Order: sequence, then structure tokens, then C-alpha cells
Amino acid sequence: MNKDFLKYQAQTSPYPLGMEVSHASGSYIYDTSGNAHLDFVAGVSACTLGHCHPDVVAAIKNQVEKYMHVMVYGEYAQSPATIYTKLLADNLPKPLEVTYLVNSGTEAIEGALKLARRFTGRSEIIAAKSAYHGNTMGSLSLMDFEERKSVFRPLLPDIYHIRFNNEKDLEKITHKTACVILETIQGGAGFILPTNDYLKKVKARCTAMGALLILDEIQPGFGRTGKLFAFEHYNCIPDILVIGKGMASGLPVGAFTASKEIMDTLSENPKMGHITTFGGNPVIAASSLATLNALLNSTIITDTLKKETLFKSLLKHPKIKEIRGKGLMLALIMDSPETANELVLRAKEKNLILFWLLFENRAVRVSPPLTISEKEIKDGCAIILALLNTM
Ligand SMILES: Cc1ncc(COP(=O)(O)O)c(C=O)c1O
Repeated sequence: MNKDFLKYQAQTSPYPLGMEVSHASGSYIYDTSGNAHLDFVAGVSACTLGHCHPDVVAAIKNQVEKYMHVMVYGEYAQSPATIYTKLLADNLPKPLEVTYLVNSGTEAIEGALKLARRFTGRSEIIAAKSAYHGNTMGSLSLMDFEERKSVFRPLLPDIYHIRFNNEKDLEKITHKTACVILETIQGGAGFILPTNDYLKKVKARCTAMGALLILDEIQPGFGRTGKLFAFEHYNCIPDILVIGKGMASGLPVGAFTASKEIMDTLSENPKMGHITTFGGNPVIAASSLATLNALLNSTIITDTLKKETLFKSLLKHPKIKEIRGKGLMLALIMDSPETANELVLRAKEKNLILFWLLFENRAVRVSPPLTISEKEIKDGCAIILALLNTM
């Protein structure tokens, strides 16, 4: 299979990991040779409830037998999306009430940027250095990593950068600013937490200037940090919340949520300010609903904090200099980029799945399914420690 995968499927890099997948269940992915790989990555924070969670599979099967795609987004009332957006509103602080469902994280970011420009009538967008918000033209424009974007220029104009957690830079937010967009916890940069009431201060400055605050929770959302959404840790409610990844526990999805007053502007002058064929797809909405119900009706979310403590107590080694992040969004900061790289590759040979971060080359990602068991955590950490002892 790998030969055809490399030949016919467009590649993202010259060195894909290339596991030949047979099936997946719980915290394991099985390859076509019958090996079980313990998954410490969860499809990069996407498989919230692990692989093929029975509730999710049942919801999908049930919906597939009723109807799949029937109309473009926004025309027909379809129960999975309607029930889902209401349940989301019930579990979000006011005024976050109305959700626009789309197909991926990056499309949700595009929608949120358009909404902020439309609502404020301003064009300037402020993003953080070392942020990652996706790879379509608008999201890519937000990135300050010239090496990754220069060949795609010209990109969106009127975008400026501030340093995450730097209060002095908040002066750059002015009456010209349409929105400030931040990851609640910076992912690709190395799982950097906001400190010192930073998000609250950004929100206050935005409010004073008439700018909107967009928080990108595509990675930390849906329980990964011990709360349904990470912003709940930081006493700051965004004007627009962007979600995706773990939302449907393994199906492609994204969404952005705002107050009715803000969101309504996207449907008038011009009407159809954002449109999509498959957004709100009933099968994906059913999967999102099953995921959210499982999170709300269990201790999965609060358990992530106990699991964080377990990881941190087990992963003590001179080559691990620091463990960053929160809940089950953890990054092991190694003593060098070489150690990080070698650990990911050698763990693969031991059937433990680890991964890199986009911009922090000393980091090794640990973002397992939230349903991972204590035994699985201990097994995986034992592999990591044994490998580090030989390196
Ligand atoms: C914080 C953040 N924003 C946006 C995205 C883009 O989401 P997607 O890959 O679904 O387009 C990602 C994906 O890794 C992300 O981590």
C-alpha cells in the first residue's frame, strides 16, 4: 500500500511516517501486519473519545440510515445540527449563542475573520507571533513564519503581529483594529499557556477599541485541558470562538460561534456572507453531538487533569527539560531537537505513536485520546523512558 500511497496521494513532506493502517479502536491503531500502536497523538488532538468510540459509531450509523446530505448549509432545519448548536449554546457563556458549522478548522478561521471585518467595518487584523490557525490563504496570512508563507504571496494585507503574553504590544490594538485573533493556548509554538491574566487584558483592550477578540480553540477545545473550553480557565469570554478538530471525535469539522448580534451580520448586506455546501452535514453533526454528550455526561473532562498529573509524575528524565501544556495537551521539551526527533522515530519502532510540533523543534507532542486509561499511560511512558535511557 505504501508504494501507491507515495505515488498517487499528494504528499505534505518527503518523509511521511507511512504506517499502513488496518483499523483502530480505543487508544490503539492497528497496522496491516497486525501490530497494535498505542496512540499518544489522537490524530493530532482530533480523536477526543479515542478511535471508533461506540457512541460515536452508533450515532453515525443511525444518521447514515436516515439521511445524509440533503441541502447546502443554512436552508433546511436538520435535527442533528439544530440539536447540536442548541446544546453547544447551553454549555457556552453568554453572549456566545449562535454557531456556524463548517468543514474544517481553517475554514472556521476564514469565517471568523470575515465576520469580524463585516461586523466592525474595519480591515486590520492582529495575530500573535508563532501562532498557527490553519493553511488556507486567510489563515496562512495570519502566520508570521516567513519561510512557510513567502512563496504563496501576495497574501491578505493589513495583518500585524504581537508577541503572545506581552502586555506592551497590546498598544498596537487601536480603533483601526477589526479583531485580534489568538490561540487560547499556543499549540505549534510549544503549548504556551497565557500568563498573568493576559487574555483578560487583551479582551479589555479590544473592548476599549471596539475590536473583536477571536479565540482559536481548535486544538484545546472539547475537554482537552480539563474544561470544555480552555478559555474557561482564564476568565475571558471571546467575541468569536473558533472550534474544530476534537469536536466530532474523528470526522472533519469546524465551527465559529458568536452572539446573535454579531453573527446576524453575515447573512445580510450582502446576504450569504459565508456559504458552504457541506457545513452542518448531518452525519458529522450527529458525531459531534455524540461526542459532546459523552463529554458532558461523564468525568472524562475532569479526568484529563488527573491524567496530566500522572504523565508529569512518570515522565521524569534528564533529557526531558520541561513538560508544557495543560490536561492532555502536553509537550515534552527535550534537551535538543535531535533528541526530540529521535524519540518520535524510535517510539514508532516500539509501536508508540508520538509526533512533533510545528514551530518548536525541541518538542514532542503528547495529546492522546481523552479516554486513555491509566495503564495505557503507564505503558507508553515506560516506552519513552526506556528509549531515552538508550539515547
Ligand atoms: C490552533 C489551530 N487552529 C487551526 C487549525 C487548522 O485546523 P484544520 O487543520 O482542521 O484546518 C489547527 C490545526 O492543527 C490548529 O491547531
